[in-house]
Amino acid sequence: MILYPHLDTNAEGHLTVGGMDTVELAREFGTPAYIMDEDVIRANCRTYLTAARAHFGADALPLYASKALCFTGIYRLVAEEGLGVDCVSGGELFTALRAGFPAERIYFHGNNKTDADLAMALDMGVGTIVVDNEDELDALHALARAKGKVQRILLRITPGIDPHTHRAIQTGNVDSKFGRAIATGQALEITKAALARTGVRPVGFHCHIGSQIFDIDPFRDAADIMVRFIAEVKRETGFEAEELNLGGGLGVPYLAEDRRIDYAAAVAEIAAIVRQNAADAGIRMPRIILEPGRSLVAAAGITLYTVGSVKEIPGFRNYVSVDGGMPDNPRYALYQSQYTALIANRASAPKDYRATVAGRCCESGDLIGENMPLQKPQRGDILAVLTTGAYNFAMASNYNRLPRPPVILVQGGKARVAVRRETYEDIVRNDLSE
Ligand code: LLP
Repeated sequence: MILYPHLDTNAEGHLTVGGMDTVELAREFGTPAYIMDEDVIRANCRTYLTAARAHFGADALPLYASKALCFTGIYRLVAEEGLGVDCVSGGELFTALRAGFPAERIYFHGNNKTDADLAMALDMGVGTIVVDNEDELDALHALARAKGKVQRILLRITPGIDPHTHRAIQTGNVDSKFGRAIATGQALEITKAALARTGVRPVGFHCHIGSQIFDIDPFRDAADIMVRFIAEVKRETGFEAEELNLGGGLGVPYLAEDRRIDYAAAVAEIAAIVRQNAADAGIRMPRIILEPGRSLVAAAGITLYTVGSVKEIPGFRNYVSVDGGMPDNPRYALYQSQYTALIANRASAPKDYRATVAGRCCESGDLIGENMPLQKPQRGDILAVLTTGAYNFAMASNYNRLPRPPVILVQGGKARVAVRRETYEDIVRNDLSE
């Protein structure tokens, strides 16, 4: 096992994913390439679904936050596993629609949905729209009335929690671009406004406190604050929320020393917290929704690159340049995110070398990581970066006109292309000659 049970080495000392030789995969599909182990995604979906049904109730519906990894095939896979999805744009809605995803199981998010987005969601029959603000509420109400519909909605609430500074800092996150804050009284105001609009049917509230969180305490605080808000709304308006969506955010290990979360246990704990708080606040237990993204898909993915050059700068550092970089993985450039990397064709050898892994864009910040432990690399080696299933392909760009890598799904000893590699023709597809 290398970081995760589905990653290992074979008799040739090559890295394997789902039992398949990554060096062979690189030969067959070229590099750079995203390789995703389908069984891992399915197993993660089942973990959440089983735990949610056991602890939230038989009608529990975990949602996959599809911003983490979005292509037609993933919606089919998630639909087969019985989850719902969170979509955040017309593009994601369109992809879900194209995949035949059941629209009633879609929750439509976003802090600035356009009229076109809202009309599209209404026409598709999206089950729930998570309304962010009063302007959107008015626009949705008008559009729904014009179409003769009453749209099921949740209201996006800012509970005022900064999960990264730990424990509730009650006003810590009030100045967020998302939702309306409890602390300012605006959450209650938008609730009253929604209850007065006939084009919408509010069923509850949504909050999302952050991403890559390992601690259960911020979720405990969010559940506590949100349940108290539900009770306040009930007192003030008589409306008792039937649904509470606590967002996504549970973390995954990127490095061997990172903590590992037992997701089923986390679901059980969140259920217990909400149940206790609801009983204390004198409200009925709401239907709890969770919408994980990263923890469903991150571990499933690895990225394979070919090493182009190894440069040693005495007294400074070693550079290993690969045939991808920030266009396929912008997360180091954006967040200094840490990854585990290795030379896939010598995966059993000791990591006795350190290098900065650089991409091939024309800027020095184009790095996958700095000072990364590796087997000593040479030109032509296959370099694998692990845990790239979430927010890599989804955030990929064509910077420097690099074509986006393919997404290859492996399952049962077979590999298939889920998203084909972009070509140079794809790159100029929308350029008009005049
Ligand atoms: N629900 C909502 C409303 C969200 O905004 C997000 C993520 C999720 C669910 C899923 O959160 P997850 O379970 O994946 O943590 N690009 C960043 C992550 C941005 C997350 C944005 N929202 C990264 O690469 O780390």
